[in-house]
Amino acid sequence: MALSIQNPLFLLPGSVSASPVASQTPHFRSSRLAQLTFGNGRRVDFPIVFAPMAGLSHVAFRQVVRSYLPAGAQAVLFTEMLSTRLLPKEDVGHTPQTQVAPGEQDLVPQLLGNDERLIAQSLEKLQAISPAGIDINMGCPVSKVLKHNWGVALMGDIGYAEKVVRQTRRLTTLPLSVKMRTGLTDDPEYLVDFARMLEEAGADWMTLHPRIQAHHRKGSANWSYIARVREAVRVPVVGNGDIQESSDVLRMHMETGCDGVMVARAATARPWIFWQVGEALGLPPPSGRENERAPRSPAEEGLESGRALNRFCDELEKHFLPEQQLPRLRLFLAWGHKWLFFGHYLGTRVNRCADLPAARKVIDAFFAEPKTLQPRTSLQ
Ligand SMILES: Cc1cc2nc3c(=O)[nH]c(=O)nc-3n(C[C@H](O)[C@H](O)[C@H](O)COP(=O)(O)O)c2cc1C
Repeated sequence: MALSIQNPLFLLPGSVSASPVASQTPHFRSSRLAQLTFGNGRRVDFPIVFAPMAGLSHVAFRQVVRSYLPAGAQAVLFTEMLSTRLLPKEDVGHTPQTQVAPGEQDLVPQLLGNDERLIAQSLEKLQAISPAGIDINMGCPVSKVLKHNWGVALMGDIGYAEKVVRQTRRLTTLPLSVKMRTGLTDDPEYLVDFARMLEEAGADWMTLHPRIQAHHRKGSANWSYIARVREAVRVPVVGNGDIQESSDVLRMHMETGCDGVMVARAATARPWIFWQVGEALGLPPPSGRENERAPRSPAEEGLESGRALNRFCDELEKHFLPEQQLPRLRLFLAWGHKWLFFGHYLGTRVNRCADLPAARKVIDAFFAEPKTLQPRTSLQ
């Protein structure tokens, strides 16, 4: 399938673009991600990746994010991590974690596990949602995951991690990726060896969240490690960690040379960050928002916040049973409120509600007065 050269984000090395926008847009010009063919024949031309977040990266949130993608942009969106112990027994496509909306052909389900047989069965089951790629979780730092030797625990044993990647490689022809951390210890040389091992074992691309296991999400992500890993391997490297504003996306790319940038927590507050980045890169607004500019000022973002929350609630109602809706709204607000002026008040009020209709009334009342969204928060 030919790669569109109208999109300025991705130019294959050596290709020349006729687009006047391209010559003004230095960002992501030679992203290696553009060279991969994903499942369903897809090529990625918008390198801002929606992150896997347990309890959050479900169909309702993804639909909100999609409503802010530049029109026609081809991105990849992760599911939340999916246990390879559960997937084989599940009705994939009909569980809260795996249901998809019509046309979601750009999904990267993330596997949590290490057992070849269960991974094989999980991949079989995942065919029901036609994935665009498959990711292996080597970043989850929580102790109940570590004790099974899943998540970032796999980074502690390079030989074992290699086996898991080689086995998974043999089981799928889809682009295979690994999302990892710096590791269990802060050792950039080990990290580089680990990344090279992933490439050798058959990973087509990787995402690096440069924090060690013990730091969970505290402190700062060390972006310089993204640059080191990108230098050390030939496959695409996506950077992740501490993106709050659209300028951070561009800065991470400029500072590290990464092939794409993954956004997690900030998307709960500012899902239109995808629109903002697209706009900065000269891409069209999302469909349905033609002739509009992306919200930028605290007041514009405050107004959009109310709209996005309403859209999120609509999607929750559409895709989830009543008892599944409110916990997902609460988790969404538990992160998103941090950027919102008086967001803590909103979160507390929503937490007291009995169901989504009650929470919607609280949200409507909250946004009846103009609100502002701050560009940055402490994130701790
Ligand atoms: C609520 C929550 C759930 C998460 N679940 C996952 C997960 O299932 N798999 C994963 O690889 N990372 C998970 N992460 C980590 C994020 O994908 C990301 O690596 C991390 O939040 C740093 O990115 P950020 O600074 O943009 O938030 C989770 C993060 C949060 C806040």
